[in-house]
Amino acid sequence: MNASAPSAASLRAALAALLDGLPPNRAAQAVERLIANYRGTTPTDAPVLRDRSDVAAYAAYRMPATFEAVRAALYALRDAAPDWAPGTHTDVGGGTGAASWAVAEAWEEGPPRTTVLDWAEPALALGRELAAGIVDAEWRRERIGSALSLADTDLVTVSYVLKELTEADRTALVTEAARAAQAVVIVEPGTPDGYERIIAARTLLIDAGFTVAAPCPHSGACPIVPGTDWCHFSARVSRSSLHRKVKGGSLPYEDEKYAYVAAVRFPATPTTGRVVRRPQIRKGQVLLELCAPEGLGRETVTKRHGPLYKQARDAEWGDSWPPEDEG
Ligand SMILES: C[S@@+](CC[C@H](N)C(=O)[O-])C[C@H]1O[C@@H](n2cnc3c(N)ncnc32)[C@H](O)[C@@H]1O
Repeated sequence: MNASAPSAASLRAALAALLDGLPPNRAAQAVERLIANYRGTTPTDAPVLRDRSDVAAYAAYRMPATFEAVRAALYALRDAAPDWAPGTHTDVGGGTGAASWAVAEAWEEGPPRTTVLDWAEPALALGRELAAGIVDAEWRRERIGSALSLADTDLVTVSYVLKELTEADRTALVTEAARAAQAVVIVEPGTPDGYERIIAARTLLIDAGFTVAAPCPHSGACPIVPGTDWCHFSARVSRSSLHRKVKGGSLPYEDEKYAYVAAVRFPATPTTGRVVRRPQIRKGQVLLELCAPEGLGRETVTKRHGPLYKQARDAEWGDSWPPEDEG
């Protein structure tokens, strides 16, 4: 592992070093308090992350998972626009910088200049400390609201932030992101309400002239009947000792559920179909639930389909289907 390259492993190493300085159990207690706080649904008018140990706990507990979720969304964007790379990036509500790590990793060959904006100074300070020498970013205090004014930028990321905002502030943020950026990637928890916030943001982006690059195969209306289901995906994240302390259990991983939209102002080729549930593997057949331009559908791939059957067995929730040629 190259310790100075942005990756899941270097992020974990930086987070582990951070917790070294905290008294035993202090991080677990702070995480438990923050989880209780985040379960509340009302947006607050002051930062929830109050001091360094809150922030260190939040970072160690959540950053590996938000990193993986944002990373998956960015790779889906890259698949739709392989020749595009951002020269500048603004991470709004960026906190300790998980999305900035993911962006630096996704375009590692030429990472953009990143600006992280957040109203919580302790989060920015810790993010700056964690990223030192690995992710090149400027960390700036900024409040999201109707007065938010973003400098023009290639890419805006907004990860796990909309939930913390009032509806008016969510609209102001997405509208301003659409004005300032060439590409906007928004990630939320993979819950029914997270999906609803994504759909509302997706509509605002399309109305502002964007096309959807991922996860959808088109920029038309989402075929999910409101209230019956929600589009979301899953990223596997290794559990740290802090996770085991807070949640108990012995599984070495957990699955982070997330919903997202990546939309662009430049030409992109969205997938022709996407696997929207974990594929079910039965004897001699694989059942795929798909979202395609003509809507939601199911496909059963059997041994009789030859090489496609092997590809179906390897297909994962969130993948493109049929698989794109790799030549
Ligand atoms: C759940 S955290 C997500 C942080 C980061 N984007 C990530 O994915 O790990 C939400 C972040 O939004 C920030 N935030 C919430 N409301 C805000 C506001 N009105 N103005 C600026 N930042 C805000 C919080 O301080 C926090 O850092």
